[in-house]
Amino acid sequence: MRGVMEHIQKRILFSREEIDGRVRELAHEISRDYRDKDVILVCVLKGAFIFLADLARYLTIPHTVDFVRLASYGAGTESSGVITITKGLDHPVEGMHVIIVEDILDTGTTAAYLVELLQKMNPRSVKLCCLIDKKARRKMHCEPAYTGFVVGDGFLVGYGLDFNEQFRCLPDIYVIEERMP
Ligand code: IMP
Ligand code: MG
Repeated sequence: MRGVMEHIQKRILFSREEIDGRVRELAHEISRDYRDKDVILVCVLKGAFIFLADLARYLTIPHTVDFVRLASYGAGTESSGVITITKGLDHPVEGMHVIIVEDILDTGTTAAYLVELLQKMNPRSVKLCCLIDKKARRKMHCEPAYTGFVVGDGFLVGYGLDFNEQFRCLPDIYVIEERMP
């Protein structure tokens, strides 16, 4: 694995400063929209863990956090549409205002599934906050209430995002350009 990863070419798409500025703005909007409400942030593992950590610390309203992990089986890098939950919620969301914190919205399959699932648990509301929206690639109807950045095609890594579990801890977000032989 190490040999392959060393040859991956990537360039910075969003610097740590840009990310930080945008996450602060999102936290400001959410803090304003959810004042005096019981909020739970539901972080989708693993990709959103760093985004969640920053967002949660910039929120100025009280809130709780919980984590879910979903697996989507199928060939290739695209979601197959067949999703299973490999880690569910620890706390009930009934009566709460839920904000799903997701790293990337791509086809929207994962997020649409999670929204529908959470809505069955009788929350007051369910909204989606995604760091990155690959809007043009959407297949399922899924509109985030809060979006960090809209991007086109390209595979992104860093700031929680991985390629084969690598690169999650890079502080900036990169787009993979090509894999050298
Ligand atoms: P969707 O179900 O097609 O919307 O896929 C969303 C999931 O695919 C995200 O939560 C990511 O885990 C993963 N994903 C999509 N694009 C990328 C990318 O560019 N880098 C890393 N992960 C990605
Ligand atoms: Mg993800």
